[in-house]
Amino acid sequence: MDQYVVFGNPVGHSKSPAIHRLFAEQTGEQLEYSTLLAPLEDFANCALGFFKQGRGANVTVPFKEDAFRLCDQLTDRARRAGAVNMLTRLDNGGLRGDNTDGLGLVRDLTVNVGVSLKGKRILLLGAGGAVRGVIESLLEQEPASLIIANRTVEKAEQLAQIFAELGPVASSGFDWLEESVDIIINATSASLAGELPPIAASLIEPGVTVCYDMMYGKEPTPFCRWASEHGAKLSVDGFGMLVEQAAVAFTYWRGVEVDTAPVLKALRAEMAG
Ligand code: ATR
Repeated sequence: MDQYVVFGNPVGHSKSPAIHRLFAEQTGEQLEYSTLLAPLEDFANCALGFFKQGRGANVTVPFKEDAFRLCDQLTDRARRAGAVNMLTRLDNGGLRGDNTDGLGLVRDLTVNVGVSLKGKRILLLGAGGAVRGVIESLLEQEPASLIIANRTVEKAEQLAQIFAELGPVASSGFDWLEESVDIIINATSASLAGELPPIAASLIEPGVTVCYDMMYGKEPTPFCRWASEHGAKLSVDGFGMLVEQAAVAFTYWRGVEVDTAPVLKALRAEMAG
């Protein structure tokens, strides 16, 4: 049977196997999808070993940059992001790398959450791998502005420069921002430590601003709680983004479309229970 994995470290908590299992059930595809814990110092050998047999893989923290370096072929968006979250074995045995995080985020925001990004003022918090992967897709939606804010401002400045040719992107430190925006997307890893990026509550216009955390968990993340407390119109976690980027991969690998709505619903219910 065709084999797929998600590489990560840690990876035991990953919901990707459950998502792909539900996609396979829905479409009648025959495949195996499991987690693969790669050693922190030796992603390359682990991945090359898997791909002697394996057909495709997703890549999660902290290997997206390692995966990027391993590829023989890259999509334009993966090249610009400098990070790969999806690997596919080519017919000649080489590896193709793509980055579907941005598409996953935009589909979740625009289709599942129902928020148009066109003409909006968007604030993106963070400047790490998670941010690099989504800037291009966000700019394709033609926002009025995209501000990248980061604790280490230089990193935000670098990203704004790299993506400047694609749209109205600017950089900032957290404490320079006061005026409210339409959408705030948290792509820092602060939630992992139960922390919040130090941003002013005045960035939220009550009843208007939509807040999105690329992290997710059983309980609302600290950022989602903060957003709700300050009257955000919506505060949404990143589970839908995970399901949507998985759908892009599944369709690419298997050549069939999937319906993500029932999968999201089933797994959210399972997480809540
Ligand atoms: P990822 O691949 O998840 O983006 P990363 O590349 O390590 O991980 O980036 C982590 C991001 O979260 C960075 O933007 C980091 O800010 P710095 O560049 O200043 O280090 C941000 N971050 C992590 N912890 C944070 C915290 N407690 N408050 C604010 N930002 C935080």
